[in-house]
Amino acid sequence: MRLRRACRKGGCVLSPSDARGLSDLRIVAGEPALLPVLAALHAAAFAGGEIWDEAALAALLGMDGVETLLAVTEERRALGFLMARAVYDEAELLTLGVEPEARRRGVARALVAGLAARLAARGVRRLFLEVASRNDAARRLYEAAGFQPCGMRRRYYADGDDALVLALDLRMVRS
Ligand SMILES: CC(C)(COP(=O)(O)OP(=O)(O)OC[C@H]1O[C@@H](n2cnc3c(N)ncnc32)[C@H](O)[C@@H]1OP(=O)(O)O)[C@@H](O)C(=O)NCCC(=O)NCCS
Repeated sequence: MRLRRACRKGGCVLSPSDARGLSDLRIVAGEPALLPVLAALHAAAFAGGEIWDEAALAALLGMDGVETLLAVTEERRALGFLMARAVYDEAELLTLGVEPEARRRGVARALVAGLAARLAARGVRRLFLEVASRNDAARRLYEAAGFQPCGMRRRYYADGDDALVLALDLRMVRS
């Protein structure tokens, strides 16, 4: 997914060890001009599932405390994104997706690390999320990032799957 605009200054530049083969990956903040990019990324990442259109994403983007991050290559190709919402000292990861052809190269790991650093810098202490119990890729990603199980919502999803509630303690994260 190509960005129409240059990355904003201040994006975090990752080292090659953070994202395999993506030494130039940057984590940049989302903005309204990038809504078509976010919508296309969501559609690609969640194909076959519930797709959030531009209007839904715009409503979220405009909410207080929402962090939107994109993972972007030097050629301005957006590979993945996430959205999270912070209220006081807690935050919730609302969505996270990576283009299918860019997976297993550390893009999601870089996005989660970027989010954790930003939230910690704002004084947020815990980051929560819900993940489908059958979503092995996401569960392994979060486990590797240090999330701990803290609850379950039975038959939470439309397909009958349970949601696992996970939390990450941000107090040890360096911002
Ligand atoms: C889950 C998802 C975001 C992972 O993105 P990604 O960029 O491929 O993940 P990364 O490359 O950063 O993986 C980091 C770690 O997570 C784990 N992981 C990620 N994908 C995995 C998979 N398919 N199988 C097993 N482990 C996986 C591994 O531990 C991996 O580290 P490693 O490659 O060194 O073994 C991506 O598969 C996706 O967009 N899925 C569809 C949308 C979705 O399910 N979003 C999460 C909703 S809660």
